[in-house]
Amino acid sequence: MQTDIPRLKIAIQKSGRLTEHCLDLLSRCGLKYTQSKDQLFCFGENMPIDILLVRDDDIPGLVADDVCDLGIAGLNVIHEKRLHGDGNGALSNFEIIRGLDFGHCRLCIAAPDDMAYEGTASLAGQRIATSYPGVLSRFLAETGITAEIVHFSGAVEIAPRLGRADFICDLVSTGSTLAANQLREVETVLESEAAIIRTDAELPAEKTEWIERLLMRIEGVQQVRESKYIMLHAPRSALAEITRLLPGSEAPTILPLEGREDRVAVHAVCRENVFWETLENLKEAGASAMLVLPVEKMLA
Ligand code: PRP
Ligand code: ZN
Repeated sequence: MQTDIPRLKIAIQKSGRLTEHCLDLLSRCGLKYTQSKDQLFCFGENMPIDILLVRDDDIPGLVADDVCDLGIAGLNVIHEKRLHGDGNGALSNFEIIRGLDFGHCRLCIAAPDDMAYEGTASLAGQRIATSYPGVLSRFLAETGITAEIVHFSGAVEIAPRLGRADFICDLVSTGSTLAANQLREVETVLESEAAIIRTDAELPAEKTEWIERLLMRIEGVQQVRESKYIMLHAPRSALAEITRLLPGSEAPTILPLEGREDRVAVHAVCRENVFWETLENLKEAGASAMLVLPVEKMLA
């Protein structure tokens, strides 16, 4: 590999719910890397790409300041920094490229279990504790509600018990943190998932090319995740019905079967998962010898 190519720097979460997924995604894109002893840096061996492992809250800033070219973070963090920065001005020098369909969670307003709640009007004049003041104030403005935002940098869920707030606005994934603190969701402020962001800065052509290549591979990884390759035998007379039953497939390949005039082999890529119900329906329609295989790579 040439050593004079400018290396793409990607910031990902150091330790948290997105870390494994991010590294797995980059590996599926073909990246082989060695991790430094302190685990904060991964050197790409077969592509000019390096990974910086940082605090998730720092990712939009590192990309906006052009320290990193790309970053992967939750939309919750991305929108918060976009709207509010670190309290010293919004960050705008980056672009959200696409959602990555992992790390799904939501930013919610939650109320103590024993508190009555009758829609957003119940929030008026109340204190809401959050580490997402930017996203929360946008929500309140859009809803036309005036409430007091109490800034917490962590452990937001204990604010009501401490008497510091009436409501909280925090991330919910499984809901167990809320349940453990006798809180319940009352409003969804933002649906979040991991997303990839890119600096606005002008980059050298080599970097732009690698970004495009990486994004194309990410696209491919996303597509195969749900895709299956299905093979089956079917009566020629039932082909229309069988094609109709194949989930999300375009034009299946029809192959003759040696010595059989009435039956053919059907091969198709299904862009949705193939469930047992589908196979049962296919069998009902006359299919046999069905085989469902995972798809490893796909390039349109
Ligand atoms: C969030 C949030 C809650 C927890 C909710 O924190 O602040 O503590 O996750 O998840 P649950 O519904 O599955 O219980 P996170 O782990 O993202 O840490 P951070 O906000 O400090 O980055
Ligand atoms: Zn965080």
